[in-house]
Amino acid sequence: MPKKTPIPELKHLDHILVSEAAIKRRIASLSEEINRDYAGTHLTVIAVVNGAVVLVADLLRKLRVQVRLDCVRASSYHTGTQAAGKPVVIDSLKLDITGQHVLLVDDILDTGNTLSAVKTLLLAKQAATVKTCVLLDKKARRVVPFEAEYVGFEIPNEFVVGYGLDFNERYRNLPCIGVLKPKYYAGLL
Ligand code: IMP
Ligand code: MG
Repeated sequence: MPKKTPIPELKHLDHILVSEAAIKRRIASLSEEINRDYAGTHLTVIAVVNGAVVLVADLLRKLRVQVRLDCVRASSYHTGTQAAGKPVVIDSLKLDITGQHVLLVDDILDTGNTLSAVKTLLLAKQAATVKTCVLLDKKARRVVPFEAEYVGFEIPNEFVVGYGLDFNERYRNLPCIGVLKPKYYAGLL
């Protein structure tokens, strides 16, 4: 038997919260719901990058309605796990969304600051409707009132990584959701 080598890249992780298989199953059922809700219509999917890249790639391939894709960039975390106040939303939309049905996609709904700022921007651009899809919802952290129509999993108030979510720009590539060791986020959440 070859010796099991510890993976130094995973040293910040405590445990797995949501497995790759569970994410896959949940995205399949969420996309069925979205397909039903938007049947016969055209949809503009807007991903909040970088965090939403993994979710939007998986979700998009399950959608059976006519879809266009665009991205906005937003960030409120400068380093590590510490929130840096108001999110900065960079309006980088290339598509005209006037009168369009928009599905806003992000990795996680936390304080709600980011998604409410992006939604305000999309409504100001005259989108007909804006609904939101997130993989994770940390309800306990909400600062501004915001609810997503499509939520993968409600999770406790812990700092998570993987499936697009980062800690210092690392771990976005994990195929599952892992919880950071408390010593890395103690006192920050
Ligand atoms: P909000 O504006 O506080 O809702 O934060 C949304 C953004 O904060 C997300 O798109 C993530 O980039 C980041 N974020 C919030 N919670 C976590 C977490 O537990 N792990 C990694 N990033 C997080
Ligand atoms: Mg993000």
